[in-house]
Amino acid sequence: MPSSRRITVPEFSSMKVEGHRISMLTAYDYTMAQLVDSSGIEGILVGDSMSMVVQGHETTLPVTLDEIIYHAEMVGRAVEHALVIVDMPFPSYHLGNHKAIENAGRILKQTRCQAVKLEGGTDQAETIAALVAAGIPVMAHCGLRPQNVHQLGGYRVQRNREQLIADATAAEQAGAFAMVLECIPNEVARVITEKVSIPTIGIGAGPHCDGQVLVLNDLLGITSGYIPKFVKAYADLKSDISRAVTQYRDEVREGQFPEKSDGYQ
Ligand code: KIV
Repeated sequence: MPSSRRITVPEFSSMKVEGHRISMLTAYDYTMAQLVDSSGIEGILVGDSMSMVVQGHETTLPVTLDEIIYHAEMVGRAVEHALVIVDMPFPSYHLGNHKAIENAGRILKQTRCQAVKLEGGTDQAETIAALVAAGIPVMAHCGLRPQNVHQLGGYRVQRNREQLIADATAAEQAGAFAMVLECIPNEVARVITEKVSIPTIGIGAGPHCDGQVLVLNDLLGITSGYIPKFVKAYADLKSDISRAVTQYRDEVREGQFPEKSDGYQ
């Protein structure tokens, strides 16, 4: 499907002035991306959270650019409506502007996705500006930056109000078309949302952002292990999957499946 039928970066950005609240979710493969896209949400993120929810790592650090591209290709083939954004993994944008453009360029060339996301504000302003100058749309990610987990000593609410506002302002000035605000107090997210002219997409940042994003597996209730306070599970698919698989196992064991009518005459 031609990606021109999708929401474009300028259309996504203008949703803020139009007062259209933006919903975004992650997706990592073709089937789920198609299902999520058909619901009509505005943004799909091929998040580096795949490192945990798909690959089973403890942090987002191990996932590689090649792996992200592999998954972004699947999502890129599936999505017809939403804007598709791909996370730049650690440290694909930390090694100078040239390398950042080369890596983000690979994402756009190989995946049919439309934009990249990177973690940072004041410290990444130069990189954001270089990518934007190369024609690569950038979504910034401020507040809690999971790629900095070791420096932060864990996943904590970020409360340095001045730094958070400075990061958001720097990201906007550098040319980002939108920004994720992760795990910051509601009130700081409200101030930033009023201050910047690009959409703020919150996750654990309260109700005042221009939009929201969640990890799909959390929303569907299939995440195992720790689930952050800000997650709302809209389904309990873990129980449904367990029930279905157990019933299948029992029916095979007891000779109830398949029945003669399930086969060919
Ligand atoms: O990788 C990811 O899923 C993200 C979202 C949590 C915003 O960055």
